[in-house]
Amino acid sequence: TTRTPLMAGNWKMNLDYKQGLSLVEDLGDALKGGDTDAVEVAVIPPFVDIRTVQTAIDANKYPIAYGAQDLSEHIGTGAYTGEVSGEMLTALGCTYVLVGHSERRQYHGEDENITNAKVKAAIAVGLTPILCVGEGLDERKAGKQVEYTLAQLEGGLEGLSNEDAGRVVIAYEPVWAIGTGEVATPEDAQEVCGAIRDALGGLFDDEVKETVRVLYGGSVKSSNVGEIMAKDDVDGALVGGASLKADEFAKIALYQ
Ligand code: G3H
Repeated sequence: TTRTPLMAGNWKMNLDYKQGLSLVEDLGDALKGGDTDAVEVAVIPPFVDIRTVQTAIDANKYPIAYGAQDLSEHIGTGAYTGEVSGEMLTALGCTYVLVGHSERRQYHGEDENITNAKVKAAIAVGLTPILCVGEGLDERKAGKQVEYTLAQLEGGLEGLSNEDAGRVVIAYEPVWAIGTGEVATPEDAQEVCGAIRDALGGLFDDEVKETVRVLYGGSVKSSNVGEIMAKDDVDGALVGGASLKADEFAKIALYQ
């Protein structure tokens, strides 16, 4: 495939700005000598770390992109206490923003409407949304993982043009595999990632189907990344816990 893999580390609610600085510096060092032209490596820190991460990456020319874990669905400025706009993130040089992560859906009540509005808000300011989708254990046990995940996909991308849809990244994260050590088998990952790609072809044009990157997330480690990345429709990984250690995340990113 001609899709450049994206290996993104979601720090979640971990690391203050000083700890984040250490991690990004250690990661920059750990990536040295690796073939970072063949992959795109990104970190996704908490909001309050982004400026520090930006400064370190710019000063040292690390081959690391960065983004945010969330953004406001409101565009522009306004009386929205606690919210962070997409424009504020682009001003910080962010490339990516997570949208609809299962933890936002589960703990912050983010439904399809909010997720869809956030995808649109990200695209409106030139950010690349990483739309997270994936089934829970109940749906998996009932064999409904594809159906459930595709419904989230369709909801999240509703109303997008082909051009806009072509700029989105999808992350398939089965909720039962997040932070549990319970990694989906490469075949499980391929089943749903392949179904996502086919569905993109149905919802949009063939170019969208061929260009959109579909990542896998859920207990990815250096010991299992190779077999997952070997699957045809897996174009990268969204890594949580294992992205908090520089050496381990560098190994994952370079899949060594
Ligand atoms: O965004 C990352 C995912 O939720 C995966 O987290 O690698 O800790 O299982 P994990």
